[in-house]
Amino acid sequence: MAKKKSSKSQYYKDYLRLSKILDSQNLISDEFNQHAHDEMLFIITHQVYELWFKQIIYELDSILDIFEVQNIDESNIGTSISRLNRIIEIQKILVDQIRVLETMTPMDFLDFRDFLVPASGFQSVQFRKIENKLGLLSKNRFSYGGANYKSYLDKLDNKEVTGSESGNTLFVLIEKWLERTPFLNWGKTSFWNEYELAVKKMLSDDRAIIETNNKLSEDEKKKHLNEYKKTELSFGVVLNEKEHSKMVNNGSWRLSYKATQAALLILLYRDQPILHNPYLLIAKLADVDELFTTWRYRHVLMVSRMIGKKIGTGGSTGSTYLSETAQKHRVFSDLSELTTFLIPRSALPKLPREIKDKLNFYFHVKKEQ
Ligand code: HEM
Repeated sequence: MAKKKSSKSQYYKDYLRLSKILDSQNLISDEFNQHAHDEMLFIITHQVYELWFKQIIYELDSILDIFEVQNIDESNIGTSISRLNRIIEIQKILVDQIRVLETMTPMDFLDFRDFLVPASGFQSVQFRKIENKLGLLSKNRFSYGGANYKSYLDKLDNKEVTGSESGNTLFVLIEKWLERTPFLNWGKTSFWNEYELAVKKMLSDDRAIIETNNKLSEDEKKKHLNEYKKTELSFGVVLNEKEHSKMVNNGSWRLSYKATQAALLILLYRDQPILHNPYLLIAKLADVDELFTTWRYRHVLMVSRMIGKKIGTGGSTGSTYLSETAQKHRVFSDLSELTTFLIPRSALPKLPREIKDKLNFYFHVKKEQ
């Protein structure tokens, strides 16, 4: 039962628990009687990050709840898009915030850096939970010195992060949702059959343009055709299920064959009203992934400026380790890379009437008698 509204009026400081928050900046340099002015900025910046991480996890959990249901209410897709958008706006602040910390010079940092060892952002439990909830797989993590990323955490934190490894991840739930897309079957044919025919026609038309170009010498034609072969091969990878499996096995692609087809259908026919929200959802997920990567690159730039080639306080190879994670810890890169397989609107297979009808919104007006 909902609690009755209390007659006691709220007080700003108490409601926001400000006594706790504002009493949580204890400079370690002071404990050693070597006050370092910039340590306050260092602590507050990290605390602000952790608060935003908390908000991101809160939004992510609510989106996971929505996608755990088999038949998702369309209005909930809209809610997920708004919440992903909120995460995106927070991420932009997270990237920008680095500039504030950069007002601390490397010499100012050296005044207290040694007191921090072996603490490091590497031990941020919330950051690891975000990575895991998005769907970063343990086997895809870059580790330094062969050590597991959790071995730097204390027992309690280790348990909490381990818990976040086993739940449903956004990647898996989105993949399942894509696989349930009902518009792949076009009655007598299928989206995939028609798409394959359209791609083959587009490729042979493009090849013919090179072959019949009188302005090119035979040598130049050969070179152009060799280059064009790469485009043909890249389409082969998505059209051929065996090639797709090979890519999944070697780790260069993750999305299942069916989910890849559905995502492509959504991107190609996004102008159709019913596909508009699914398209926005895919675009927002790609944004979230890109912005985390942007943060990682921005963080590594700051780190190399701040400590050069020194090792990190957490003991890693510092900027070398961080550059690796920026490249390897992406979760939704498949969604951005799908653009490789887009074809121009003019080459798109025409939607069969009954599919087109299903993809449209209809407003029925009852005729007056
Ligand atoms: C003077 C500023 C900073 C420096 C020099 C710095 C340095 C580093 C280094 C060297 C690492 C690699 C692990 C290690 O050996 O310690 C690292 C990891 C990390 N740092 Fe920072 N950092 C700074 C500020 C921040 C801030 C403000 C945050 C915000 C929370 C942050 C979050 C992280 C995270 C999440 C990791 C783990 C990244 C991963 O494993 O991919 N760092 N940092």
